[in-house]
Order: sequence, then C-alpha cells, then structure tokens
Amino acid sequence: MPRAYVFDAYGTLFDVHAAIGRHRAAAGPDADRFSEIWRAKQLEYSWTLTLAGQYVEFWTLTERALDHAFARVPSIDRALRQRLLDAYFELDAFPDARATLAALKGAGAATAILSNGSPRMLAGAVEGAKLQGSLDAVLSVDAIRMYKPRPEVYRLVTDRMGIAPADVVFVSSNRWDVMGAAQFGFRAVWVNRAGLPDEYLAPAPLATVSDLAALPQIAV
Ligand code: 2OP
Repeated sequence: MPRAYVFDAYGTLFDVHAAIGRHRAAAGPDADRFSEIWRAKQLEYSWTLTLAGQYVEFWTLTERALDHAFARVPSIDRALRQRLLDAYFELDAFPDARATLAALKGAGAATAILSNGSPRMLAGAVEGAKLQGSLDAVLSVDAIRMYKPRPEVYRLVTDRMGIAPADVVFVSSNRWDVMGAAQFGFRAVWVNRAGLPDEYLAPAPLATVSDLAALPQIAV
C-alpha cells in the first residue's frame, strides 16, 4: 500500500459539469458546449498566466471564464450567472468519490487533494460533498501562486506531507496533470471516465482507470 493517495479536485473528485447540470433546463440546448468553453477557458487562463509569470486566484479565473462563455454562447441567459457560480462553489462530487476515499483510508493510506482551486473554493466543495472526514490534507496552489503543471506545485505535497515522490499515488482525470505529476516522480494514475484518446505520451501513467471505484483494487 503506498503511503499517500493525492487527488486532483476539479474534474477528478468534483464534476465540473455539475454546475450546468443543475440548471440544464434553464440553460437550454447549448448547455454542454457552454460548460465545455467555461472549463477550457478556466484552464487556459491558469496556464497562460503561469507562463507569463502572473497569478490570479482560481475563483476569479472561474468567473472570467464564465463571462467568456456567456459572450461566446449568447443563447444562455446571463441571469443564470450567479446561480452557476453558486453551484460551482459547491460542486457535486462524483458518486464514487466518498466511498473510494473511505476505502483507501480504511486500508491505511493517507489521502489528500492537490488543486488549482483557492482554499476558500476547495473548502466549499469539500464541505458541500461531505468529504472532510475522508481527507488528511487539502493543498492549494495558492500557497505558491502558480498553477499546475509547474513542478513547484507537486512539490507542495512532498514538502507539506513529508513524503517521497515515489510514495505518492497521484490521481487525476486531467491528462496534462497526470503528465506533470509523473514527471515530478509521483506514481500517476489517469482517471479516463470519458474514454479519451491518450496524449502527452511520456512519462506514461502507471495505470489508467475508468472511474475512482477501481482505485483500491489496482496495484500501484
Ligand atoms: C484542479 O487542480 C486542474 O482543475 C484542476 O483541481
């Protein structure tokens, strides 16, 4: 059993499309495209700001990305803005998140989140999904003001948890995050729920699973 399982938050433990899911009827037929643009822009801003040596916290990037999505998809009523942000603040966890964390903890592993999310938004999501009892640590990039996949971000885990990279299983649904974690020396696992084609080929993940429930069963 590895000493720690560290999870990405948005897209891995929490469903980034759950916010639009709660308002799908009001959003109408362009809901999915709108949500994809919202997520893609949120991530793009994190990467480009980090490349430029700038930092703006993730909640503000989430708001800016949402405003960009409204501008790109005019059929979505802007009156939904606050309701979508409220839903994003307390995003639904994937149905297998709580049981998986509990199973890993029950088997003696430490569990943690390492996320781009600000401490405030991570607290909102963790408490909303009632995951606080299943996590030993919630680590935010905000402490070092740069985003994944900078190696300094992954080093937060080894520094804060006093653990060697090889004793960390890092779990993410974001393939680019898996690449950053594997390059840092973590035992990286890709959660490929959507059956996406592989990319960022090296270094390869140690394992690929289709959901979180598979994690306690695989040998990593
Ligand atoms: C996270 O760090 C990348 O959104 C992802 O939680």
